[in-house]
Amino acid sequence: MRVAFVGKGGSGKTTMSALFARHVASQGGPVVAMDADINQHLALVLGVEEPPEPLGSHLTAIKHHLRGDNPRIASAEAMVKTTPPGRGSRLLSFADLAAGRIEGREFAVTTPEGVRLMATGPFSEDDLGVACYHSKVGAVELLLNHLVDGPSEYVVVDMTAGADSFASGLFTRFDLTVLVAEPTRQGVGVYRQYLDYAAEFGVRIAVVGNKVHDAADVDFLRSHVGDDLLTWMEHSAAVRAMEQGRPFALGDLEPANADALTVLLKEVDAQEKDWARFGRQAEEFHLRNARAWGDARTGLDLGEQIDPGFVYGP
Ligand SMILES: Nc1ncnc2c1ncn2[C@@H]1O[C@H](COP(=O)(O)OP(=O)(O)OP(=O)(O)O)[C@@H](O)[C@H]1O
Ligand SMILES: [Mg+2]
Repeated sequence: MRVAFVGKGGSGKTTMSALFARHVASQGGPVVAMDADINQHLALVLGVEEPPEPLGSHLTAIKHHLRGDNPRIASAEAMVKTTPPGRGSRLLSFADLAAGRIEGREFAVTTPEGVRLMATGPFSEDDLGVACYHSKVGAVELLLNHLVDGPSEYVVVDMTAGADSFASGLFTRFDLTVLVAEPTRQGVGVYRQYLDYAAEFGVRIAVVGNKVHDAADVDFLRSHVGDDLLTWMEHSAAVRAMEQGRPFALGDLEPANADALTVLLKEVDAQEKDWARFGRQAEEFHLRNARAWGDARTGLDLGEQIDPGFVYGP
C-alpha cells in the first residue's frame, strides 16, 4: 500500500510521514519511506545522519534499469518520468524497492527503527532554471509506476508543498493521499484545491489535522472538510523536543497522537487496490506529458511507448 503526505508548506508533511513510517515499522510492517521533496528533511526526522544516495542524481541509470528490454522504449534517454511500464519492462516487487539496489548502486538506508529510506535528493544551484526540478522528482514517479506492491507492504512518500504535487501524475500513484492540514484558513485552502483534482482522478484523500490545540480547532477543521477529516494530531511536545535535537522514540509520543497513527494505518489497510485505474492514469498522464513537452523534447512520439497489451498489477 502506498500513502502520500501532501499539504501546505510547513503543515507537517515530513513530520507526519516520518511518524507514520516509524509507526508502521513498530507494528512489524516492512516500510519504505521516500522523500519526494527537494528540501531534504525526512532523513533527519527519521533519525538518519547520513542521507541516502539521491535518486535524482542517477536518473539515467534508474531509467535504464526499469526499461529492461521493453521494445517500445529505445533507450533510457527516450524514457520520461511518465513513461509507463510495458511488456519487457523491469517491474519492482516491494522487496526490490526496499532493497534499493539499482544498477549496482545502493539507494536506500535503514533507519534505527528499520524503515528503509530513499530520497529524490537536494536541489542544487545547478538545477535552477533547467528542467531538472521535475525530472529529479520524476525518479520517484518512475519507481512507483513500475512497483507491484501488495497489502502489508508500505510505501510512504513525503511530497512537495502545496499544489506542486499535482504538477505530474505522481499524485495518482497512491492508495491513499493524506492531506495534512493545520486548523487555519490556509491549511484548509489546499484541501479545496486538492479536492478538485482528487475528484477528477478518483484519488482517495483523507485529511489529518495537525498542530491542533483544542476542540475549537477540531470544529474548524470539520466545518471545512467534513467527513474527510480522518483524525488529527495535537501540537506535540515530544515532536518539538525532537526538533530541538533531543532523543526521540515513538513511545515518547503523546497517547492521542499515537492513536492518530493507529487510525491512519487502519485506514491505509482498508484501501483496495485498483490496478486498472492505476494503469489508465499512468497512460493518461503519459499522453498529457507527451503532448505538453515530452514529444517536443525527445523528438519522439512518446504515445507509442504505451503497450496496449500490458496488464498492471500482480
Ligand atoms: N504535531 C506537531 N507538534 C509539534 N510540532 C510539529 C507538529 N507537526 C509538525 N511540527 C513542526 O512544524 C514544523 C514543520 O513541520 P514539517 O517540516 O513536518 O512540515 P512540512 O509540511 O514537511 O514542511 P515543508 O513544506 O517545509 O516540507 C517543524 O518544525 C515540525 O517539527
Ligand atoms: Mg517537509
